[in-house]
Amino acid sequence: MAKVPTSRVDKLLSSMGYGSRKDIARMAKVGGITLDTAPLLDATKRIPVTPDLSTRMRICGETLDPLAPMIILLNKPVGMTCSHKDGGALVFDILPSRWKSRNPRVSTVGRLDKDTSGLLLLTDDGDLLHHVTSPKRRVEKTYRVKLARPLRGTEGDLFASGHLMLENEDKPLAPAKLEVISTTKALLTITEGRYHQVRRMFAATGNHVEELHRERVGGLKLPDGLAVGEWWHLSKEDILSIFR
Ligand code: URA
Repeated sequence: MAKVPTSRVDKLLSSMGYGSRKDIARMAKVGGITLDTAPLLDATKRIPVTPDLSTRMRICGETLDPLAPMIILLNKPVGMTCSHKDGGALVFDILPSRWKSRNPRVSTVGRLDKDTSGLLLLTDDGDLLHHVTSPKRRVEKTYRVKLARPLRGTEGDLFASGHLMLENEDKPLAPAKLEVISTTKALLTITEGRYHQVRRMFAATGNHVEELHRERVGGLKLPDGLAVGEWWHLSKEDILSIFR
């Protein structure tokens, strides 16, 4: 049987962003940390680290955040940047501030532009991040696009051709699928994640993207019940559906 890892409570909680080891010792002393409803007064105690800890342990009455690996699906609003340090509003500002101090660090899985909304994944799992963003995996991403000018009718064939070369690049884009909704609205599915890719694809056809919203990553769709700015924790099964 695999050995269950153990950790000191102060070390574990500090790596999850709940404060310094000193802060956690203080919190424990006053009964702020409970395990199976019993106060855990000594933060130097070693405990088994199992995934069910996030339902069994409470910090100041609140259930513990998921242990690493933690995966979040956020319905990103327009106007927020996918960065840890740019000026202005950041997607991390929407999430609990303690997550900024988690170790391993929580990062966005790829990026959406400041002006793009929709499905954004965040994780502290470096392998998952690499798998989803690796061009070799060809994970499909579907975007809903609103255009400034009517489609010409030739865009679908051009995008599907595998010959479209974007400005200042030396490799053509992989084939992409366009589904026309109306003269100025469409769904575009791509398998790469080049810089401003969707906006630049339409710019190459003489058009301009006015609104861009990501609806799907692999088999994972933005849930209807998830309002703009809201987020959910994802399970391992949800993640597998990305690579279905
Ligand atoms: N393509 C873009 O141009 N912007 C995004 O945010 C995502 C894909």
